[in-house]
Amino acid sequence: MSTLTPLSRRSLLLASAGLLGSSLAPLTFAQGRPPAGGMLRLIANENPYGPSPAALAAAEKAAAEGWKYAMRETGELKRIIAAAEGVPTNNIMISAGSSEALRVAALVYCRSGGGLVAALPTFSFLPSYARSLGATVSEVPLDSDMRHDLAAMEAAITADTRLIYVCNPNNPTGTLLTGKELRAFIDATEQRAPVVVDEAYLDLWDDMPEHTAVSSVLDGKNVIVTRTFSKLHGMAGLRVGYAIAPAAIIKAMEELRITQMSYTGVMAATASLQDKEFLQFSRERIHECLQITSNVLDELGLPYAPSRGNFVYFDTGDSPRKFMGAMREAGILTGMSYAPYPTWARISMGKVEQMHVLAAALRKHFA
Ligand SMILES: Cc1ncc(COP(=O)(O)O)c(C=O)c1O
Repeated sequence: MSTLTPLSRRSLLLASAGLLGSSLAPLTFAQGRPPAGGMLRLIANENPYGPSPAALAAAEKAAAEGWKYAMRETGELKRIIAAAEGVPTNNIMISAGSSEALRVAALVYCRSGGGLVAALPTFSFLPSYARSLGATVSEVPLDSDMRHDLAAMEAAITADTRLIYVCNPNNPTGTLLTGKELRAFIDATEQRAPVVVDEAYLDLWDDMPEHTAVSSVLDGKNVIVTRTFSKLHGMAGLRVGYAIAPAAIIKAMEELRITQMSYTGVMAATASLQDKEFLQFSRERIHECLQITSNVLDELGLPYAPSRGNFVYFDTGDSPRKFMGAMREAGILTGMSYAPYPTWARISMGKVEQMHVLAAALRKHFA
């Protein structure tokens, strides 16, 4: 499928000057009109193609057996994931979405205060939870390409630092650190504090093995990798994720975990992992949606970051609030904004036909 044009300074300039051409396909969907039955949700980085047919069938069956606790079944899901990742089962914690694993990591390391080093902007669940626990969050601005500034993050580590958070690809910018860059950062920092690598979106592309930090876990480094069934698998409402880390860290996390797994979620996740055809379909649709979105942004001369997530972060050139209001008028919920970029907003990918509706609404608003 398509790959996005990298955000070089030149393409940014060309884009803002409106000089990049468009290869947008003709619209095949009712132009700019939202479908009957409610607002389009292009706001929360969900994947409306999911759950997969196999996951759905498993969830329906599991709901009827919902009187059970998912004890043996969670163990089975752990074994399947462990085999796929090439790690022992005691390197894995199954969690209620990856956000439970992220928060439990904060609980283990930041509950007595100290510091957390994270990027700004980034996915806020772990940093804001650490702050609530009494930790001081050192927010390190992204670099000029909207990527984690790893050198500045390393420089921000102090004797008080208890945890380091890297979101790869980053939410809301979608920018990727290569496995090579990340492993060098981990090698330079993990002795000072554990590094959490949030890989919620990494499986949206086929080159995950090249960029994942799981190899650092296998090397015995002080690293916690988190993953989720909420994005590629389209199961955000079923709440399944997991962490991969050295056994001693997983043990400490399991002791402080908040909840037990949903039987329905576990059964659906187990089925979804086997449904390779759906996963490839899902990946391809997300890439297609990204291409539709980048094409219309190019056409309108609006700069955007090259995304490896199921969302695009772009410059509205004005107040994101105004943009969100206009999209709401058009029946589309979209446009989350994040400091410190006062004019930028994030659009989540939906279904292909929904992105054509969005494209028409963007044209109407920005043309
Ligand atoms: C980077 C990142 N990590 C983690 C999550 C949490 O997802 P979940 O708890 O559904 O696994 C999200 C959700 O949007 C995210 O963007």
